[in-house]
Amino acid sequence: MTDEIACGRWIIEGGRPLLGEVEIGGGKNPAVAVIAASLLCDEPVTIENLPYIEDVRVMIELLECLGAKISRNGRVLCVDPRTVNRVAPRYDLAHALRASSYLLGALLGRWGQAEAPYPGGCDIGERALDQHIKGMRALGAAVTDQYGVIRAKVGRGGKLVGSEIYLDMVTVGGTINLLLAACRAKGQTILFNAAKEPHVVEVANFLNSMGARIKGAGTDVIRVNGVEKLHGSTYAIIPDQIETGTMMIAAAATNGDVTIRGCIPTHMEALSAKLLEMGVRVDERDDVIRVRSTGIRRALTLKTQVYPGFPTDLQQPMTAMLSTARGVSLITETIFESRFKHLRELARMGARTQVMDRVAVIEGVPELTGATLSATDLRAGAALVVAGLMARGSTDILNPHYIDRGYERFADKLNSLGARIVREDQAESGTSARTGA
Ligand code: EPU
Repeated sequence: MTDEIACGRWIIEGGRPLLGEVEIGGGKNPAVAVIAASLLCDEPVTIENLPYIEDVRVMIELLECLGAKISRNGRVLCVDPRTVNRVAPRYDLAHALRASSYLLGALLGRWGQAEAPYPGGCDIGERALDQHIKGMRALGAAVTDQYGVIRAKVGRGGKLVGSEIYLDMVTVGGTINLLLAACRAKGQTILFNAAKEPHVVEVANFLNSMGARIKGAGTDVIRVNGVEKLHGSTYAIIPDQIETGTMMIAAAATNGDVTIRGCIPTHMEALSAKLLEMGVRVDERDDVIRVRSTGIRRALTLKTQVYPGFPTDLQQPMTAMLSTARGVSLITETIFESRFKHLRELARMGARTQVMDRVAVIEGVPELTGATLSATDLRAGAALVVAGLMARGSTDILNPHYIDRGYERFADKLNSLGARIVREDQAESGTSARTGA
């Protein structure tokens, strides 16, 4: 990976079925949370199976700027948090990444204070932090939220104190941040209405591997008994749920036959059920899912929901596929209010879509035609790639750097399955390189 931000474009020759086998990498959302959580430890920590993606690179740089000693060898990262000497992450990096909000919980939990700008990340909705702040206050921190910067500090007793926290909505980030803050607090914290997503469980497992006492992760009530210290640990990140799902959708959308290895089929139940409903064949065993087209793709009614419901992160690639399904699909996006921007781009390819508030109506057309499209966020980028693979003719995708934030070697992996994607990378420095087949 380079430190430059890739601009450029991806050029996709569509209309080729994906065939063969592909291996899934470590999960983006678990990885960025676990990297932040490593700051809570009193000893060095080793994290394995890290994906090579931009968000992970930025998260590592954030820790380095806080003073943590970092060494990386391929997919293995060693973090020594004992040398941390700052509690304010670098503004530009923190602002670029949603997961930087986890540094608030981790720094507050370990060093008693933290300061961070409102995080950026994909522009898919308002993405408030009120529940994170409410929870930190319930743990006894004084928190201010002014001029786009959140400052949190432990109260007079010099330590966070466990508390009962009722989250007003199910929030993945809020649940993770409060686990981080609470795991070294004095006494017991109970999180009610907690998120159940696999990366919440992953963070709890990682913290427990260092000696934390967290029970109930994966249910909506999580109990955290604070501990004095956390010891070093070696921990491997779980496979990426959304990369798995995107590959499953791409296989079905191109009338392909793809065997996806190194994934967790139980994380994919909501998507597998929808693919079966469409007429796609899905077979699962151990850590393998095979997705085969039967030549039939029926329209669907689909609603995004918190886990174990249909993940919002797969809504965009799924709507790309539904644009050529037989019939009219109704998609309701319940999590993020601005997650239909990719539909404007799909319309350039001939897709027939209408958005009314949180509902998209997609009337299946016989085929999509290649066009020049612009990615507006990470999963929108993945959706456009799926559409480009399906389309007749050539598709150019601008702003592909969004895709690199969260998918490891995505074009290479698709090309290994028979896609024809050429990456035309243009670094900000002005140099240009072409990679891919
Ligand atoms: N919300 C609030 N107040 C809060 C927190 C959340 O109103 O204090 C609202 C948000 O505005 C949103 C909803 O609650 O409407 C859900 O937000 P949540 O906190 O669950 O999402 P997140 O933590 O910001 C993570 C993932 C997203 C994924 C969502 C939902 C990371 C780094 N990001 O975001 O991943 O879509 O959970 O599963 O884990 C992606 O990978 O492309 C991505 C956007």
